[in-house]
Amino acid sequence: MDNKNYRLETLAIHAGQVPDPTTQARAVPVYRTTAYAFKSSQHGADLFALRESGNIYARLMNPTEDVLEQRLAALEGGKAAVAVSSGTAAIYFTITNIARQGDEIVAANNLYGGTFTQFDAILPQQGIKVNFAPVNDFSAVEAAINERTRAIYIETVGNPALDIADIEGYAEIAQKYHLPLVVDSTFTPPTLLRPIEHGANIVIHSLSKWIGGHGTAIGGAVIDAGNFDWSDPKFVLYNEPDRGYHGLRFARDLGDGNAIAFALRFRTVALRNQGPTLAPDAAWIFLQGLESLPLRTAQHSANGLAVAEFLKNHPKVAWVKYPGFDPLAKKYLPNGANGMVVFGVKGGAAEAQKLVDNVELFTIIANVGDAKSLIIHPASTTHSQLSEEDQLKSGLTPELIRLSIGLEHKDDIINALDEALKLI
Ligand SMILES: Cc1ncc(COP(=O)(O)O)c(C=O)c1O
Repeated sequence: MDNKNYRLETLAIHAGQVPDPTTQARAVPVYRTTAYAFKSSQHGADLFALRESGNIYARLMNPTEDVLEQRLAALEGGKAAVAVSSGTAAIYFTITNIARQGDEIVAANNLYGGTFTQFDAILPQQGIKVNFAPVNDFSAVEAAINERTRAIYIETVGNPALDIADIEGYAEIAQKYHLPLVVDSTFTPPTLLRPIEHGANIVIHSLSKWIGGHGTAIGGAVIDAGNFDWSDPKFVLYNEPDRGYHGLRFARDLGDGNAIAFALRFRTVALRNQGPTLAPDAAWIFLQGLESLPLRTAQHSANGLAVAEFLKNHPKVAWVKYPGFDPLAKKYLPNGANGMVVFGVKGGAAEAQKLVDNVELFTIIANVGDAKSLIIHPASTTHSQLSEEDQLKSGLTPELIRLSIGLEHKDDIINALDEALKLI
């Protein structure tokens, strides 16, 4: 399908798919297979030697996932995508697809707790150091860059403080030092924000959130914008012959493929040799989610804004943060700011936990991006691995309550919060 002239609503339903050529099935079939038959031993040899492209083994590729990958690339305005088993795997293998022992990354300090722990505690065990800089503090970002830096990493909207990253400011620095800008856009699906339009080189999603949209599967994806030149020798993984792949130099030997060297290396190294494969059934769930994504993000945004306005005016609420209230929203989120709202109640952490325990309709849960409204006290749960100091640095105060506003009627959501606020 030629995607070029279609709008996002149309791409969300059609990109990457035509009716199944064998059966004429209209929906995307789930290809539950471990491997694919070679037509002959020569065909098998050609596929293995990259003389011909095609399916070999489902750890690396699957037709259901292929539709998901093409659709995500089209929606984000990227050139290629790779789907993986979780958002966490997408992040980890993105970093190790760029940096190796001795290299460094510069990251914003307001990241999802699991990502912060991966960067702060896991990557250093493998010799990759991450230097954190306060979000949007561009002099601190530049000060953290040195000759070993190999990427800049940010989230479009930080979790849980919900600050909007000034992507274009980061992109300018990334270009100045010739570093790829990696953007986790989980909180802002492409119907709300397309980081590549603002200068991102790699976009990451946890598909487990709004893209799946119903809290039914775990998955992740990386989208390669195809706009980064990996032939700079400092990216050793792209310029030295790869012992694991026929001595290939990913930034030099792929012809037109050099532009999407990141995605090709991700598939042929991370998926092939490290194995974070997405199951085709999960890929199907995410495709189902994508079809209604434009409608859902519009509704999540309308409900999120209504809840944020309600809380802002409530006498028992000390403060409210909603990305839609951020001055950067005009530039980055003109079509809606999604359904995440955080707030503090007067009376601190004890009153916050009381509210969480008493609110009806909401589920206390360590997740976001479900059709159902969700609530959590991050300091004692999702971000409890962080020291109090690191929590405060990432904008997480002890009384902060995080809401992921779902698709229920906004008046029912607001009434539930109003009743719970009466009890504190
Ligand atoms: C912003 C962000 N990125 C990545 C992840 C990790 O995704 P997954 O749970 O699919 O591994 C999460 C999970 O909450 C997240 O909020």
